Amino acid sequence: MKKINLAIVGVTGMVGRTFLEVLEERDLPIDNLYFFASARSAGKKITFKGKEYTVEELTKNSFDRGIDIALFSAGGSTSLKYAPIAASKGCIVVDNSSAWRMDPEVPLVVPEVNPEDIKLNKGIIANPNCSTIQAVVALKPLDEYYNIKRIIYSTYQAVSGAGMDGWHDLEEGLKGNPPKKFPHPIANNCIPHIDVFTENGYTKEEIKMIEETKKILHNNNLKITATTVRVPVFNGHSESINVEFEKSFDLEELKEVLKKAPGIVVEDDPQSNVYPLACNATGRNEVFVGRIRRDESVENGVNLWVVADNIRKGAATNTIQIAELLIKEMQ
Ligand code: A2P
Repeated sequence: MKKINLAIVGVTGMVGRTFLEVLEERDLPIDNLYFFASARSAGKKITFKGKEYTVEELTKNSFDRGIDIALFSAGGSTSLKYAPIAASKGCIVVDNSSAWRMDPEVPLVVPEVNPEDIKLNKGIIANPNCSTIQAVVALKPLDEYYNIKRIIYSTYQAVSGAGMDGWHDLEEGLKGNPPKKFPHPIANNCIPHIDVFTENGYTKEEIKMIEETKKILHNNNLKITATTVRVPVFNGHSESINVEFEKSFDLEELKEVLKKAPGIVVEDDPQSNVYPLACNATGRNEVFVGRIRRDESVENGVNLWVVADNIRKGAATNTIQIAELLIKEMQ
C-alpha cells in the first residue's frame, strides 16, 4: 500500500488536536507527518504515536516537499491564502474552514452522503460546517426514500465550535469572568447569534446551514430555514430538525431507514428516557438521532433530534474520512 505524506495545518487548535486523536485511532498509511500552526507555536513539540514532532510556522514554502494531503483547520483567512499554494504544489487540501465551501469548483463532502463528489476536486475539498454535517447524515437517507421538500433547523451549539477561545469563555464565565470571544456571557445563557449577521437578518452560520445543505444534497429547490444558537455546553451540537417530504411515509419504516443508514445511531426510547444527548455523543464519530415523531401539523412531516460531537464528526472525523477516501483513490 502506498504510504502518504500528510500535513496538518492548525495542529495546535481545537480541531487540530482532535485530528491527532482520530488519526491515532484509525490506521492511515502515513509515511511522513508535518505539523503547522502560526508563528506563535513554532518550535512547540507534539508527540504522536510515540514520536516527537516539531510544530513549524506555516509559510508559502511549507508545501515544497511532496506533501500528498493537507488537513487545514486554521481559520478562513489562512485557508484562503495557503490552500491554493498547497494545491499548486500537487497537494490535495481538505479544508475545514468556510473559505472554499460554496466555491462551485470545490466539492463539499460528507462521506456518508456524497462521497462521489470527491472525484471532482481540483486540489481543494471542503469540509462542511459542523452543524450541516450532522444534519445531512440524518437527512440523506430520508431524502432518498421520501424526497425532502422543506427543512426547519433549530440548533443548540456547543462552545467548542468557536475554538479554544469559545471554550475559555464558558470556563471563565462559569467562574463569573466576562466573555472575550462571545458578545454576551455564555454561562447560564443562550445566544441566538453564531458568526456575523447579514443584511436579511440571518447569521452567516444560518446561511451556511441552508446553502451547504442544498449543495451537499444536490438540490437547489429545497426550502430551508434555520435559527442557530450558542448554548452553555462545552462539546456536542444538538439540533431540532423539522422535515417535510413530498411523499407520504410510515413512521416505523422511516425509523428503520435511519437505523440502516451509514454513520447513524438511532437512540429513541422516550419511555425509558433514551434520546440523543451531547454528553453521550462527545468522543464518538457517529450521528445520534432520536425523538423521531410525526409532525401532525402538516401532511408529510417529521421531527428529529440530532446530536453529534461537533469537533469529531462535525470537523476532524469527517475531514479524516475524506482523506481516507483520497488515499484509497491514490492506491
Ligand atoms: P496557533 O495556536 O499558533 O495560534 P482554534 O480555532 O481552536 O483556536 O485553532 C486555530 C488554529 O489555527 C491554531 O492551531 C492556530 O495556531 C492556527 N492558526 C491561526 N492563525 C494561523 C496562521 N496565520 N497561520 C497558521 N496557523 C494559524
